[in-house]
Amino acid sequence: MQYQLPKDFFFGGAMSGPQTEGRWQDDGRIPSIWDTWSNLDITAFHNRVGSYGGNDFSSRMEEDFELLKSIGMDSVRTSIQWSRLLDIDGNLNPEGERYYHQLFATAKKVGIEIFVNLYHFDMPEYLFNRGGWESREVVEAYAHYARIAFETFGKEIRYWFTFNEPIVEPEMRYTVGGWFPFVKNYSRARAVQYNISLAHALGVREYRRAKAAGFMLEDSRIGLINCFAPPYTKDNPSEADLEALRMTDGVNIRWWLDLVTKGELPQDVIDTLQSRGVDLPIRPEDKLILADGVVDWLGCNYYHPERIQAPAKDTDENGIPNFADPYVWPEAEMNVSRGWEIYPQGLYDFAMKVRDEYPELEWFVSENGMGVEREDLKKDENGVIQDDYRVDFVRRHLEWIARAIQDGAKCRGYHYWAIIDNWSWANAFKNRYGFIEVDLEDNYNRRLKKSAKWLKQIATTHIVD
Ligand code: BG6
Repeated sequence: MQYQLPKDFFFGGAMSGPQTEGRWQDDGRIPSIWDTWSNLDITAFHNRVGSYGGNDFSSRMEEDFELLKSIGMDSVRTSIQWSRLLDIDGNLNPEGERYYHQLFATAKKVGIEIFVNLYHFDMPEYLFNRGGWESREVVEAYAHYARIAFETFGKEIRYWFTFNEPIVEPEMRYTVGGWFPFVKNYSRARAVQYNISLAHALGVREYRRAKAAGFMLEDSRIGLINCFAPPYTKDNPSEADLEALRMTDGVNIRWWLDLVTKGELPQDVIDTLQSRGVDLPIRPEDKLILADGVVDWLGCNYYHPERIQAPAKDTDENGIPNFADPYVWPEAEMNVSRGWEIYPQGLYDFAMKVRDEYPELEWFVSENGMGVEREDLKKDENGVIQDDYRVDFVRRHLEWIARAIQDGAKCRGYHYWAIIDNWSWANAFKNRYGFIEVDLEDNYNRRLKKSAKWLKQIATTHIVD
C-alpha cells in the first residue's frame, strides 16, 4: 500500500540543546541541574565526558545541517538552554546570545527551518535550589527568560514552543523518582505540573506581547510540545479500570489539550485530585493566567502507548494517592533495547481524538523514534550500520499518520528523534536513535546509517511506500 503525505508537510528531525551541546563551561554558561545529576553517575553508560556530554554539535553545526539537508530534511527542532542564554541575575549572557544567533544563521544559510523550544528539562541549578517548579519565583523567572528569548531572536525564528514534555518533568523527577531530585511523591508531582502550566501560559502571554510590540515575525507561531501517549486499559475493563483510564488520560493528555485550546484545566480532574488530598497550589488569580495558555498549534511526541489498569492499592505507604497501575498487554510488540512497546496505531488514535474533541487544533509529530543498543555491532564491511528495524518502525508510524490525515487529522509534519545520535538522560549514549551515527570511537565523526537513504526518498517524495 502506498500513501501520499501532503506537499507542505514538514519533514525533519528533533534534538535538544542540553543533549547536543553538553560542555557546560563553554560560553559563560551556568550549571543546569543535569550538570549536577550526571555527576552522580547513576546509570550512565558510555558517558565518557565526566559531566554530561553532547554530541559535538556546537562545533559541527554547519556540517550537521548540511548532512540533514542532504537527506531531505527541511526543518529541525532544538532548544535554547536557559542556563546558556541568561546569567544568574537573569541578564543576557552575550556569549550565549552570540552562540544562538550563529546557530540560527547557520541553519538559515543551509536552508533548514529551525523550530525553537524554550525548555527541555534543563533548569538552571540556582533556580532549582530556590525550589524549582514548586516555587512561584521560578515560574516568574521562566516568564522573564521567555520574554528575553522572544525579544532577542524573534526576527530569526518562526516556530516557537514553550516546553517539551511538561508531563515528563513531574513524572520523572517527582513520581517515578528516576531523575534528580529522585522524589516519589504524587502530590508534589501534580503541584509541579500545575506550576509548569502557569509558566507555559505566562510564556504564551510574553510571546503575544512581543509580537504585538513588533519583535516577532508576522507569520510566527507559538505552541506546546507534549508526550501524548494514548492510555489504554484492558479489553474487558472493570469500572475501576475505566476510572484509572479517566484519571490517566485526564492528567497526562486532557490537562494539556484543555490548557492549550481553552485556556483552562479540566475541572473534573482537579476535583478528583483535591478530593483525594492532592495539594495543588491554586490561587484565585491563576484563572486569568491560564486563560492566556491558548496556542497556535501543538507538537505531539509519540514513542509508545500507556497501558494501565485499576491500582492494586489506592494509596502508597505514605498515604499518597495512586490512580493507576501499569498493565502489560499480552500482545505487545516490544523494542527490547529501550523497554518500550511499539504500537504505531497509537498515533492514529491520538489524531482521531484531536480531530473529534479539539477540531480546530493543528499539530505535528514532534518526536518519534527508535533507540537501539550496540548499533556499533551492526556494521557492514563498509562500516555502515544496518538498521532496517528503524525503516520498519518509521514506515509503520508514517502509514498511520497518512491514514489519519486522509481521515481528517490536521497533522502538519513529522520530526524524527534524534535525527543525529545524541546523549540521553537515562543512559548517555547507550540507545542510539539517529539516522546519522555519531562515532564515539572516532572523534564524534558522523556517518549515515543504512536507513538514511530510505528516509531521503520519503522526505523528498512524501510518498510512504
Ligand atoms: C523524549 C525526550 O521523551 O524521549 C528526549 O524529549 C529523549 O529528550 C527521548 O531523549 C528518548 O528517550 P531516551 O530516554 O531514550 O533518551
